[in-house]
Amino acid sequence: MSTTEQRVAVVTGGARGIGAATAVRLAAEGRAVAVIDLDEAACKDTVEKITAAGGKAVAVGADVSDEAQVEAAVARIVAELGAPTILVNNAGVLRDNLLFKMSVSDWDTVLNVHLRGSFLMTKAVQKHMVDAGFGRVVNLSSSSALGNRGQANYSAAKAGLQGFTKTLAIELGKFGITANAVAPGFIATEMTKATADRVGMGFEDFKKAAAGAIPVQRVGEPEDIANAIAFFTGEAAGFVSGQVLYVAGGPLD
Ligand SMILES: NC(=O)c1ccc[n+]([C@@H]2O[C@H](COP(=O)([O-])OP(=O)(O)OC[C@H]3O[C@@H](n4cnc5c(N)ncnc54)[C@H](O)[C@@H]3O)[C@@H](O)[C@H]2O)c1
Repeated sequence: MSTTEQRVAVVTGGARGIGAATAVRLAAEGRAVAVIDLDEAACKDTVEKITAAGGKAVAVGADVSDEAQVEAAVARIVAELGAPTILVNNAGVLRDNLLFKMSVSDWDTVLNVHLRGSFLMTKAVQKHMVDAGFGRVVNLSSSSALGNRGQANYSAAKAGLQGFTKTLAIELGKFGITANAVAPGFIATEMTKATADRVGMGFEDFKKAAAGAIPVQRVGEPEDIANAIAFFTGEAAGFVSGQVLYVAGGPLD
């Protein structure tokens, strides 16, 4: 790649929350960004924010758990922006319930979006990274990978992504590709707002209660996660691979 060429980044689940903040941040770092989400129209705000700041972005509608849609999305990105060499597997859903009440469909949905989706996206994008001799993969894990009541499906998926990340690092390292996981704690987004709704709490009270248990005494913002992702996707992070970084306002184990 010549120094004037722009690297192409793909951010899944980029319509809102952590994905939107990450897309905006990577564009500010000079990347051309493909913003993928279920509904192409929902990506409009993120794309407009990027282009208004002088950046380059396209909105792409795709369900990351659907193989044909993933392949079509990546082909479109190659045609419209160029070959992607940065991938952030961020798309996610919750279907929380205690194990004895968790339906098979709630299990399958969560495993499909997080794990199958990250597998399909990485498989489709890695060939472009191999061709370029450069790649950066960041997978969104979670503090829930350590176990969390009501999240048997989600914690299994997020722990699974850590194993997936380490294996990518081992297999793809020789092609100049790194793979790392960012594991957020409590971040204020629609996802945590939905959890507050489910437990019957106002979002402000819910955030205040969460902040009290976090060493830095605040909940995280999407930009806190985007900052960590920007580091892992940067040119300078080529010797950092197979790592899991908890970004949670304090230590977790
Ligand atoms: N918010 C938190 O506290 C928190 C904590 C730890 C990990 N995470 C993880 O960070 C990521 C982003 O979370 P968020 O809080 O911004 O969530 P969010 O619900 O605000 O946004 C998730 C986005 O993913 C999209 N999406 C869902 N299924 C999809 C699919 N099949 N294909 C394409 N797009 C799809 C949604 O439409 C949405 O725009 C998720 O992987 C989540 O599990 C979040």
